[in-house]
Parts: sequence; C-alpha cells; structure tokens
Amino acid sequence: MAVSAGVNGQVEAVVDLDAIAHNVGVLRAHAGDAAVMVVVKADGYNHGAVEVARTALAAGAAELGVTTVAEAVALREAGIEAPILCWLNICDADYTAAVAAEIEIGISSAEQLDAVAAAARDLGEQAVVSLKVDTGLNRNGIEQEVYPVVLAALRKQVDEGVVRFRAIFSHLAHADEPYHPTIDLQRDRFLDAIAAAKEYGLEPELVHLANSAATLTRPDLAFDMVRPGIAVYGLTPVPDIGDFELRPAMTFQAEVALVKRVPKGEGVSYGHEWIAPADTTVALIPAGYADGVFRTLGGRMQVWVGGRNRPNRGRVCMDQLVVDLDDNAEGVAEGDTAILFGPGSHGEPRAQDWADLLGTIHYEVVCAPRGRVHRRYRGGTR
Ligand SMILES: Cc1ncc(COP(=O)(O)O)c(C=O)c1O
Repeated sequence: MAVSAGVNGQVEAVVDLDAIAHNVGVLRAHAGDAAVMVVVKADGYNHGAVEVARTALAAGAAELGVTTVAEAVALREAGIEAPILCWLNICDADYTAAVAAEIEIGISSAEQLDAVAAAARDLGEQAVVSLKVDTGLNRNGIEQEVYPVVLAALRKQVDEGVVRFRAIFSHLAHADEPYHPTIDLQRDRFLDAIAAAKEYGLEPELVHLANSAATLTRPDLAFDMVRPGIAVYGLTPVPDIGDFELRPAMTFQAEVALVKRVPKGEGVSYGHEWIAPADTTVALIPAGYADGVFRTLGGRMQVWVGGRNRPNRGRVCMDQLVVDLDDNAEGVAEGDTAILFGPGSHGEPRAQDWADLLGTIHYEVVCAPRGRVHRRYRGGTR
C-alpha cells in the first residue's frame, strides 16, 4: 500500500495514530506492572509498522514484536532503537543482519539456534536470543521433546559468550475464550519450561505469554511483559465481552466517483444480479476487490455515504462497486467521502461488521486494503 503525505488518494486507509496511542494506554492499564511489547508484524496489521511503532513507543510501550528478521531490520533502519523481537524464523534467515542490528531472535529449534550462533561468531558480536516454547498451540515454537537439546546447546553458547539469553515466551491457542481449560494447561507447561531452563542455569531476564485477549481478560497471565497486537489497532479480541474502550484506528474510505440515475428494470454491475425495482439514483465507489473489498460482500454490505448507510447493489468488481442512494440522493455529490468501514462512531460499518458478513475475523478485514489504496495518517507521533 502506498503511503500518501497529505494527498488524498481515491481510495484510502486512514490511520488514526491518536487512537493507537489511546489503545496503548488502555493496554498499559490492564498490564499493571508488566511492560508492553506492541506487535507490529505484517506492517503493523496493515496500519504501517514504523508509524504505529513510533506512536506506541511514545505512548509508553517498551518493546516491539514482529515475525520476520526483515520486518525487524526495517524498523531499525527507520531509526527505531527500542528492543525488537522477531519470532517466526527459518534456518537460513539473514541472522547476520539481525545480530548486526541488535534484533532479539525468537528460537523455535536447535537448528535455528545454531544458525544464529554461527552468524554471531562470524560477526564477532553477541546475538540476543529468546526461547519460544510450544506449550500447546502446536504451531511455531520449540516442541517439548527437543527442548532439552535446545537448552543444552544454549548453555554452551552462553558459556562461549556468543549469545545472550534474554527471554522465554509462548503463545496461547484459546486466549479469546478467557476460561478455556487449555489456557491454564499452557500456563502450567510454560512454568515448567521456565523451571527446566533454570536447571541448565539459564535464568531468563523476562518471560511473557499474553496476547491482546489475555492482556485484557487474564491479568494473572501478564508475567513480566504482555504482547498485544490486535487491541493496539483498536479491535476487541473478545467481541462477546466488549470493546474495552478501545478505539479502532483504521478507516477504509473512497471518493464517490459518479452519481447517476438507474431506471426501473435496469440491472446493475456484472451479471445484473440486482435489477432496480424502481427508478433510483446510485453512487459509484471506485474501490473493488483489488483494493481489498471482498467480492463476497457484493449485495450484502452497506457503505456510509451522505450521512447514512446505503446498500451495495450488484457485484463488487475489481475496481468499483455501486451503492443505492434510493430516494435520498440529495446532498450526495461526486467527490464525497464514502466510508467502507471505520470506527463506527457515526454509525458507519466497522471491520467487525465485515467480518461477521464474511464469516471471518476483523484481523483479516484490516489486513485487506492493499495495492492502490493510499495510507494516510491522522494525529499521533510519526
Ligand atoms: C507470538 C505472538 N504474540 C502475540 C501476538 C499478538 O496477538 P493478538 O493480535 O491476538 O494480540 C501474535 C499474533 O499472532 C503472536 O503470533
């Protein structure tokens, strides 16, 4: 997505950095004495990693979390000096770049640890590593059986002075169901993993487990640091419980390209899936599935235009969609702003509404705007 400096694109993702700062404040309040690592992977959940990171750090976040070495190095290159952890690594990732940039590397296997240590030796610098232990998500993370092998290798590398051991962390499978029994099981396995490391004389500087949902609903799991992602962007991780006073940061909007009459009996958009039951006025919105408006929303979504929600008619195309202004076209003109989704404060659709229609989660919805969409920032620290 292109970032526009003040120039309105015809389709925009407007990111409210004041909302990001507010949400970090909410998370800090829930975290108690624990530090806050803000997760800015996937370009800050598609809100812009650098801008979100700067705003979050100014609002009191202590550290940043990403998935890949490349994401972490890009933050350093943008001048961000805070601790950065990357945790989804492959054997032949560019660990040399990571070590040189003082990135903390999350380890999920003995092979990864060896590769990091080799990069550190080559560079003549110490690598900072943390152990990502799999406590039951069965995705990324060190599996229980090989954990002793990793601990033994780490012990040697710490003794050699080639790595500094920073943290042990893990990730929950059911955090969005705050009292799901696997949460306590994972906590117990996490505590066992910490105890096992200590048996090797490996005392972590800190341990962390909680994502957004756990930060907001399970204060008992805050440990030394929490690791929220989605809540930073203002989307509640547990919609059934509430919004926790979070403020959604992204508004996906476009300029009305055309306002025109459609006579009764005429079909609208490819396949004429909607036939006008009466003479009507429609607005053409220049955003389509190439921009992140899911095609399966066609005929089901509402778009906020001219102070109210209007139904989309017919198919969503690659570049455009049509909304029905019906008898209420007055006051709607070409160039007006049409909100596809936003915080919902005026009654406009929210990312959660799209998620409900699509049978998905709002995480996927905010990651959708792309390609021609211009990102623009409001407020905050950049
Ligand atoms: C290891 C890890 N920690 C924290 C997070 C943040 O999760 P959430 O966005 O649900 O807060 C993620 C996201 O997937 C993650 O993979």
